[in-house]
Amino acid sequence: MSGAEIMVESPAEGVRLLRIHRPEARNALNMAVRRLLVKHIAACSADPGVRCVVLAGDEKAFAAGADIKEMAGAGTVEMMKRGVLDLWRATAASPKPMIAAVRGYALGGGCELAQLCDIIIAGESAKFGQPEIRIGIIPGGGGTQRLTQAIGKHKAMRYLLTGDPFSARDAEAMGLVSEVVADEEVEPHAVAIAARIAAMSPLAVQQIKDVVLRGMDMPLDAALTLETRALHLLFSTQDQKEGMAAFIEKREPVFSGK
Ligand code: CAA
Repeated sequence: MSGAEIMVESPAEGVRLLRIHRPEARNALNMAVRRLLVKHIAACSADPGVRCVVLAGDEKAFAAGADIKEMAGAGTVEMMKRGVLDLWRATAASPKPMIAAVRGYALGGGCELAQLCDIIIAGESAKFGQPEIRIGIIPGGGGTQRLTQAIGKHKAMRYLLTGDPFSARDAEAMGLVSEVVADEEVEPHAVAIAARIAAMSPLAVQQIKDVVLRGMDMPLDAALTLETRALHLLFSTQDQKEGMAAFIEKREPVFSGK
């Protein structure tokens, strides 16, 4: 475990858990936390021993958004100099799967942080929302775009324009959340899924993430071509030979990432 405001844990083989730790501010994302998060995600990307990343907070909050106290007095130039968009891009650029383990509040930038993860596991009492409109601003970490992609225009507008929070069950019904579990099961369940992903071929895992995310921004036919190219590429890996041999020999595959 290390880091003042991001705690680093290794809860299972191939799994790194990054825990936002500012309990006094409901894990609000100040600039120091954002920069640390990017640093730790980059370290995970570079470490072949890390196959899947879990992002977590604590029982009260995953993250209650951008730090309002840190930006309340800022002007346009200061906001521009913070380079928050670049930090969001660096966070989203992780080639390894990221699972958000959400307990408590995931509001504003915290909701957006969950949205840029690949899987969201939420506790029964988790609360999601984009309340920026209530403080006279708009989301700045992808909320107008990723939330709309996830739940559709009319649901997104309903929550973006009122700032109303919504429950984990509603988030699941709208397609924002992958699974809702009991609050105390959130982290064990997220880690268990991460461990299963960590045991797959990291080359195939990476291709799935890459093709899904790039494909979302492409016309369907181009995205399908990208998918086919990625599939064909994997036929040059030992992991493809091992996976298919293991099936035929009725045994568990052992993937080497080669
Ligand atoms: N920024 C700074 N401090 C925050 C914070 C935030 N986003 N959220 C909570 N805190 C602080 C509170 O000010 C409080 O500090 P003090 O003890 O010093 O007063 C402490 O955390 C505990 O908060 P509460 O007493 O309010 O706790 P609660 O359990 O009653 O309520 C809450 C929790 C519903 C999350 C409430 O704190 C809240 O509404 N927070 C703000 C949520 C929000 O508006 N987020 C969007 C921010 S803007 C953004 O994210 C967009 C962007 O990127 C541009």
